Amino acid sequence: MDLKLVKHSKPSRNIIIALFEGEKLSDYIESHYSAEDTRLIALFIKKKGRVAYETANTLFLPSGNTAIVLGKGTRDAWNVRRARILVRRAIMEMKRAGLDEATLIAESILGPGNLIEESELIGTEATMADFSFNQYKSAPEEGWATVKTISIAIDISPSELKEAEGALAKGIIIGEETNHTRHLSNTPGGDMTPAKLADEARRAARLTGMKVVIFQEPQIKRLGMGGVLGVSRGSNERPRFIILEHKGKGATGKPLVLVGKGVTFDTGGLNTKPGESMYEMHMDMSGGAAVIHAMAAIARLKLPIHVVGLVPAVENMPSGSSYHPGDVLRSITGKTIEILNTDAEGRVILADALGYAARYNPRFVVDIATLTGAAMGALGTRANALFTDDGKYERLLRDLGEKSGDYMWPMPMWEEYAEDVKGTLGDVANMGKGRYGGAITAAMFLKEFVSYPWAHIDMAPTMTTNESDRLAKGAKGTGVRFFVELARYMAEHPQE
Ligand code: BES
Ligand code: ZN
Ligand code: ZN
Repeated sequence: MDLKLVKHSKPSRNIIIALFEGEKLSDYIESHYSAEDTRLIALFIKKKGRVAYETANTLFLPSGNTAIVLGKGTRDAWNVRRARILVRRAIMEMKRAGLDEATLIAESILGPGNLIEESELIGTEATMADFSFNQYKSAPEEGWATVKTISIAIDISPSELKEAEGALAKGIIIGEETNHTRHLSNTPGGDMTPAKLADEARRAARLTGMKVVIFQEPQIKRLGMGGVLGVSRGSNERPRFIILEHKGKGATGKPLVLVGKGVTFDTGGLNTKPGESMYEMHMDMSGGAAVIHAMAAIARLKLPIHVVGLVPAVENMPSGSSYHPGDVLRSITGKTIEILNTDAEGRVILADALGYAARYNPRFVVDIATLTGAAMGALGTRANALFTDDGKYERLLRDLGEKSGDYMWPMPMWEEYAEDVKGTLGDVANMGKGRYGGAITAAMFLKEFVSYPWAHIDMAPTMTTNESDRLAKGAKGTGVRFFVELARYMAEHPQE
């Protein structure tokens, strides 16, 4: 898809117009369309009386042009969340109407906000909306609906245009890397093994100039990563430990470390998941994919910051060599893990990754994982569960969530919860004692392996898209936009 900014004076074939309830057609349209086309659109809007929120109308005009009219809701309710969805709706409606080219009236998409931020948002969200995952499907006779060109018509000065173009290009990078994570997550488990995930990390590193190191099993053993080794024991696929590093020009001080769960398929192990719960468990490496491609985005944006990405990659399978409930594994930190349930494998491999992260003397570590069904029980499927000990970071990460579109909602990690994960035979148990608060128990478990400022994101709630996201079905690509915002913030606020 080619996304570009143009001036309003350039006539267009197909136009996307978004209107508040009761809003009249802007004069801009006249610079794109003939008087007759413009009159017909205006007539349609007048007849409709009210272009309601979330409605879309496609008008085939006598000149052969097509106009899509989207309802934006009331002016009062308008916000950046709605703007994000509106951009996606525009692309979706184009595909539905079979348009491969259209002009978006920027003024109707943008809020009263900052032109630069909004140009970036259009770049990211349009790119995300353009994503589809058809690799495993035969093409329909008429071919897949694709969007070739989107022109964003805007009325700004040449210097502003230059700035907006820069922002749009950055937005496209973030959208592309988000789509790469969606591709990795959607890829079936048989085709996305720990070794393949490591290959993808290598490829991303080669394309973006990052440093990459992949540990294979002997090295993982030597380092004492008993958690990674334990979980991977039941599978024929051998584990990998992926390390990516970006050190931007001018980066000083301690690094930011991102850690992502890379379970390429989660059967539950010997505590095998029932059939319907195993569905989509090829996406249990979504946190790892987000780390790989957030790193790639940060490198492509040349952010002046030192960032390290760590992804423990395993497959969780039942077999004669599987780890068992009751096993006690020794993690890299020396703390032992008592396995109460082999399906709580994510935290077990993350324990080693978080332990390994200490070697970087990090400024801040954030892990992201499709960790618990309980997080979905608590929050539904729109917000990620955010855990951190530090009130300052809690506020910051929530705000960055809002800014990026990867929404975060805070959960408690009080010391009172700690007894839930006390081990009987080992130091820490990989499952809580009670029936409730499973997302919190998982966070409390991870905390045992942490010795630096840290936050944990349980992204199970947003592993896949919702209908209302107006994105393709399947993986949502959570984390990339968020980590880019976090890296930017860290770069702009060097440690005192
Ligand atoms: N990968 C799952 C969590 C999950 C479930 C992610 C649904 C996305 C959608 C995780 O490894 C798991 O199985 N967790 C268990 C933990 C329990 C055994 C303590 C769970 O949530 O049931
Ligand atoms: Zn599991
Ligand atoms: Zn899992």
